[in-house]
Amino acid sequence: MVDEMSAALSIARRLPLSSGKGSIPQLGYGVYQCPASKTTATTLHALQAGYRHIDTAGIYRNEHGVVAATTQFLALNPTIPRSSLFISTKFAPHLKGYKAATNAIAQSLSHFRNPLRADDPKLDLPATRPNGVDRSAWPRDPDFETVRTESDGLGYIDLYLIHAPSGTLEERNGAWRAMVEAQQRGEIKHLGVSNYGVRHLRELFEFIAHEESEGRPGGKVEVWQGEIHPWLSRHDVRGFCEDFGIVIQAYSPLVRGQKWGDELLRGVVERTGKSEAQVLIRWSLQMGFVPLPKSEKNERITENADVFDFELTDDELKLLDTGKYEPCTQWDPTVWTH
Ligand SMILES: NC(=O)c1ccc[n+]([C@@H]2O[C@H](COP(=O)([O-])OP(=O)(O)OC[C@H]3O[C@@H](n4cnc5c(N)ncnc54)[C@H](OP(=O)(O)O)[C@@H]3O)[C@@H](O)[C@H]2O)c1
Repeated sequence: MVDEMSAALSIARRLPLSSGKGSIPQLGYGVYQCPASKTTATTLHALQAGYRHIDTAGIYRNEHGVVAATTQFLALNPTIPRSSLFISTKFAPHLKGYKAATNAIAQSLSHFRNPLRADDPKLDLPATRPNGVDRSAWPRDPDFETVRTESDGLGYIDLYLIHAPSGTLEERNGAWRAMVEAQQRGEIKHLGVSNYGVRHLRELFEFIAHEESEGRPGGKVEVWQGEIHPWLSRHDVRGFCEDFGIVIQAYSPLVRGQKWGDELLRGVVERTGKSEAQVLIRWSLQMGFVPLPKSEKNERITENADVFDFELTDDELKLLDTGKYEPCTQWDPTVWTH
């Protein structure tokens, strides 16, 4: 397995994690807003196209679909080890505190350890769609059949993130403590936070130091996930992550398609002959981030991984690192003050 940042940029590239106990595949595939039944087929396609890292969440209601696809993929490819795959999931923002996190981890773990068959009605859960579009009736791929293994499915969660800094500081710290305990039990390999601002990160670091001073394991923030793309540079959080060796997962790397045709991308698209989506993903990779492009279309999933035959120049990297603050999602929890 390629395990160093210095390794050539390729679909196999993995970034080392600061615990020193593993690495994360640099290109990820995100499944927000994919209904579980659809997620199974698209995730399987992504794995076949070479992605090794999938980003899901409790609140996306499609962990089942991701696990069904990954276990199917492993069964179809017996020479590919479980350890080459990396699945992130998250503690939902509406849940708060130690007890809720303990329960949420148990629920995610049960999804990871009990892959469903493709005809299981649980795979038909409608995905979370804030815009109100219900895709619960999305047709299943009739050729797809999940293999029920005799093993414990995926066995463990590769990365567990607090989805957003909701609740009080005490509740956030409680959730973190539940994650550390699950890590001690071998249920989770790596820990991180999503949508945390610098203030939230500092508070968490203080809590970790406090736990360690009391003789308890504090855990390590190995990954930060947040919205980052040329219209949202986040130099503050990036600086913090760099100082502490925290890997950055960049969500909405395609700006949700809201910037197609924007003149910022035009010159690079013309020079490289690649699509705007490919330029944005390549920028994210060359910046050292872990982009999580999402698509429900197989041809786009393939296109988004076809980014290893061209390179952006240093000038182009700088040009796209604009310093702008224009979130494309409807929320920015990094600025929450409670
Ligand atoms: N932690 C958090 O709070 C958080 C928040 C947001 C996202 N995320 C993670 O990040 C992932 C990606 O973010 P996102 O879903 O917000 O947005 P995104 O990846 O920036 O954009 C997805 C949109 O781009 C379209 N698209 C994908 N590839 C394309 C291509 N090659 N050409 C044209 N259009 C293309 C998709 O449409 P089709 O699907 O129709 O192809 C979809 O509408 C999520 O799935 C999730 O895993 C995390």
